[in-house]
Formats: sequence, structure tokens, C-alpha cells
Amino acid sequence: MNVEIIDEGLGIDETVKEKIFDDFYTSKESGTGLGLSVCKTLLDEHNADYKLINNATKGTTFSIQFKV
Ligand SMILES: Nc1ncnc2c1ncn2[C@@H]1O[C@H](COP(=O)(O)OP(=O)(O)OP(=O)(O)O)[C@@H](O)[C@H]1O
Ligand SMILES: [Mg+2]
Repeated sequence: MNVEIIDEGLGIDETVKEKIFDDFYTSKESGTGLGLSVCKTLLDEHNADYKLINNATKGTTFSIQFKV
């Protein structure tokens, strides 16, 4: 089963693509940097594959593949 979450935000710079899943990595003034690290832990527990793709137009697609 595949799930895609598509936004029209700023997109994610290639140079930080790996870092954004780290604990406490944030570019926000008052972010915890825990949102995506919790997501990663949950996805790993479910053996899901996932990738981030910068949209051709605007924003990011977070593509998740659950093995069923
Ligand atoms: N959809 C997105 N588009 C662009 N950048 C993103 C996106 N999701 C995450 N990021 C980048 O990854 C960083 C880490 O995200 P994460 O959700 O782990 O923490 P946060 O959003 O900064 O903090 P908090 O979860 O406390 O609000 C963000 O600060 C931002 O730089
Ligand atoms: Mg967040």
C-alpha cells in the first residue's frame, strides 16, 4: 500500500534531506525538530520504505510504501 502526502510549501533542500529525520534538527525558531524523527521511528517499526521528492512545481511529496 502506498501513501503520498503532498504539500505546496518551500520544498526541501537536497543538502538537508537526510538531516531532517534527525532528532532535534529544525529550521524553525521554536521547533522541537522531533516531528519527522518520530515519523521515521514509526515507519521503521512498520518496515515501511519512504522517500522525499521535491515537486516539479512547488513543495514536497512524502511517498511511503507499506509492505502488506
Ligand atoms: N514538508 C516540509 N517542507 C519543507 N521543509 C520541511 C517539511 N517537513 C519538514 N521540513 C524541514 O525539516 C525540519 C524538521 O522537521 P520536524 O517536523 O522534524 O521538526 P519541526 O517541524 O522543525 O519542529 P516541530 O515538529 O516541533 O514543529 C523542519 O524544521 C523543516 O526545516
Ligand atoms: Mg514538524
